[in-house]
Amino acid sequence: MRRILVTSALPNANGAIHLGHLFEHILTDIWVRFQRMMGNECYYVCADDAHGTATMLAAERLGTTAEAMIESLRAEHADEFGRFHVDHDNYYSTHSAENERLTRAIYERLAEDGRTFTADVEQLYDPERKLFLADRFVKGTCPRCGADDQYGDNCQVCGATYDATELGNPRSTLSDNTPELRSSDHYFFDLAQFTDFLREWTASDAVQPEVANKLGEWLTGGLKAWDISRDGPYFGFTIPGTEGKYFYVWMDAPVGYMASFENLCDRTEGLDPDDFWRADSDAEVHHFIGKDIINFHCLFWPAVLRGAGHRTPTKVHTHGFVTVDGAKMSKSRGTFINASTYLEHLDPEYLRYYFATKLAANTDDVDIQLDDFVQRVNSDLVGKVVNIASRCAGFIHRGFDGVLAEGMHDEELWAAASNARHELADLYERGDVGRAVRQITALADRTNQYIAEHEPWKHVNDPERRDEVQGVCSLGINVFRTLVVYLKPILPAMAAKAEAFLKVEPLAWEDAAEPLVAHGVDRFKPLFTRIDRKDVDKVVAATVAEAETADDGNAGSPEVRIDDFGKIDLRIAKVLDANFVDGADKLLELRLDLGDNQRTVFAGVREAYDPNALVGRLVVVVANLAPRKMRFGTSEGMVLAAGPGGEDIFLLSPDEGAEPGMRVT
Ligand code: MSP
Ligand code: ZN
Repeated sequence: MRRILVTSALPNANGAIHLGHLFEHILTDIWVRFQRMMGNECYYVCADDAHGTATMLAAERLGTTAEAMIESLRAEHADEFGRFHVDHDNYYSTHSAENERLTRAIYERLAEDGRTFTADVEQLYDPERKLFLADRFVKGTCPRCGADDQYGDNCQVCGATYDATELGNPRSTLSDNTPELRSSDHYFFDLAQFTDFLREWTASDAVQPEVANKLGEWLTGGLKAWDISRDGPYFGFTIPGTEGKYFYVWMDAPVGYMASFENLCDRTEGLDPDDFWRADSDAEVHHFIGKDIINFHCLFWPAVLRGAGHRTPTKVHTHGFVTVDGAKMSKSRGTFINASTYLEHLDPEYLRYYFATKLAANTDDVDIQLDDFVQRVNSDLVGKVVNIASRCAGFIHRGFDGVLAEGMHDEELWAAASNARHELADLYERGDVGRAVRQITALADRTNQYIAEHEPWKHVNDPERRDEVQGVCSLGINVFRTLVVYLKPILPAMAAKAEAFLKVEPLAWEDAAEPLVAHGVDRFKPLFTRIDRKDVDKVVAATVAEAETADDGNAGSPEVRIDDFGKIDLRIAKVLDANFVDGADKLLELRLDLGDNQRTVFAGVREAYDPNALVGRLVVVVANLAPRKMRFGTSEGMVLAAGPGGEDIFLLSPDEGAEPGMRVT
């Protein structure tokens, strides 16, 4: 039995879980569930990546503390992954006592052994916000092509990469001020000392071939020291023995894998983190990541582990990026789909199945085609696999009291279904899940054809052919049972329903070796319904509406002065009419009377208010907001409300005595 620890990359604690995260966690979960079905001891841990300037600023914007924000996001993320059947043994946070202790211990060991050094670094500093500016918080003119409004690390126009200090006319995106150059001491990890070790590790089958090539280029180009410190204010852990220096978020983030596992071990009898992390451990450690973070997981992390006297990863499994209908996920096109939006309209196992059909062991991007999504689920999963059980079960109950035959009516077909377990296991192990699904579908095709050839519906009432009918339908159900085994890592909820129908204990991989004979099965209840394309459209429309009602997340709102506030013309308005908006689950279209004029305003209050209840009511509107064109029409103002969103939105309503058009002060 193998002992295996598995991780997915830690989602950032400053936004929602979306299709890209789901892809990564679902593909990891499929691998984990497969290992467990094989009888291996397999743990799957994850966490939210809590630290960094982005978290600090997001909390500030929400008017809350970083601690409160990350905890509520952590709970939300864990819940959403759970609803997609992602079976983490622990979903923790990098902002934990375990992580602080482990990160410090690792750093201290590296420092003692001469793996770190300090150096002076000049950086752009925002004197008003009193912050050193990370690259994404600076914009200016590209030093190569002269394009305006480019971020501090690379140019969107000509593709040049550079230092933020090279930008022309730099300005802080946090305050719009001109930043100044300031220098401070930074702590570095001397990555180049690990060049030989990394060459060896890279060649050890720990990464896919195309990743090894990329790493080879970096190694040949020469490794630069890695800046692992940031100046305060920063949301993170302080570096021991320093004043106001923090570990860069990417230093403590991968240590978060260890911390989450340690936290699990503390709650699990007989599980010792050291068995998995000591240098001579014979357990395995597998990381699943996207291709944007290869350098962190395949250079820094193995080198840090090595330098700190720990084992290095057995394997880093890298995947490509999710695109939708051939393009990058986009809020305005409605394809930047959040987990919560999907869950409102569609069964999570549809997505698990569709992702599985797309999985390969390479780093190519993965395109989700919405029509194909509907088609694959409806025609392959429901139409082919589930169909076998639904057509056979009826006959077994009609003529045979629900009891399966003694023997295999077609030995060859049974052998094909049963023996497939060897090759399918190899494919799952390698991550070639799409190919496994195609073979499973081919087995289903062959079985449906076999059933069609024997026409049990014609012979079920013919006493001379009773045995044949029972034999054919029993074999159909037996093949179906092997297909359930093979699909169980992908479709755990469907498998549980199928197990209840088959009246069997939870299926393990080896159960495909032997058929069920002279065994009673339950009556068949539908395991899966077809996707309605309209529900997919609803997800897309809801995503568009979210983008239109959301604040644009402009990093950090600067303080405003009373005269800024005075620019906003707030008025009392009376709701004349309120209506649903087709294709927007969150919006109502309001017709408002502002005393001397009438306006149409779209407000994101549909979940909280019944339109009829609003007619005649007084509300507060921003009367001088520039009109905004939306998909449904133009919104000529904004209605003020308070609350966290969804059903909890409360329109601000003035007291009795107010009149439409009155100024609100
Ligand atoms: N916090 C870091 C990871 C730290 S791991 C020690 C991070 N967070 S992230 O939220 O930006 O991304 C988390 C994972 O989701 C990464 O592996 C990333 O590649 C993956 N994806 C994010 N968007 C994606 C797609 N559109 N498609 C597929 N995966 C992508 O990076
Ligand atoms: Zn440029």
